[in-house]
Amino acid sequence: MNNEHISYTPGTSNAPVIMLHGTGGDENDLLPIANVLFPEQPKIGIRGRLMEQGLTRYFAHHPDGSFDQTSLENETQWLLATIAEVIETYQLDDESVTVLGYSNGANMALYAALTGRTFFKTAILLHPMLVSDDFSDDIADDVNLWASYGDNDPIVTPENFASLVSEAEKRYFNLSTFKSNMGHAITKEEILDAAQWLHSQQ
Ligand code: MLT
Repeated sequence: MNNEHISYTPGTSNAPVIMLHGTGGDENDLLPIANVLFPEQPKIGIRGRLMEQGLTRYFAHHPDGSFDQTSLENETQWLLATIAEVIETYQLDDESVTVLGYSNGANMALYAALTGRTFFKTAILLHPMLVSDDFSDDIADDVNLWASYGDNDPIVTPENFASLVSEAEKRYFNLSTFKSNMGHAITKEEILDAAQWLHSQQ
């Protein structure tokens, strides 16, 4: 485990929050939001180990701009193994994992879930999208997902988000969406909505 790119913030419970950053981010980016949403939970940030055009990422693009599916799969396996290792190191509960992911990081958590590897019970996915059409048919009706989408997002198309909703529903994920007319950036309004949704889940 390369601790250099992992941040750990202790909490008073043993239910970990895994923070997965957006393109160009790092393991500490989402901590201010995680502190608001999950004040009591221990927080683990994991930095994507790839670098493209000077920006950190969890998986690569091909030169034509399409997503490299081999990299996506390899890096997902790496991420899942790393998460398992950190959870074990800090003796946290691997049955009570929450994900807080933004963009590239949210896409990783969603891809893992749609390929039958739901390592979390709850996920707050900020501006996620489908990055693969390689799905498993696994049903997981105990997975709670909250996802945000902006009508003016230059990265996530309406078609992509609609497919995401449909794939989540097919698997009986409990999905709640927050839609706005904003773009790809994180807004205060969506964080407030996510906070309310988390509260309603308790
Ligand atoms: C991705 O690469 O996962 C998406 O395009 C979002 C992003 O740019 O990070």
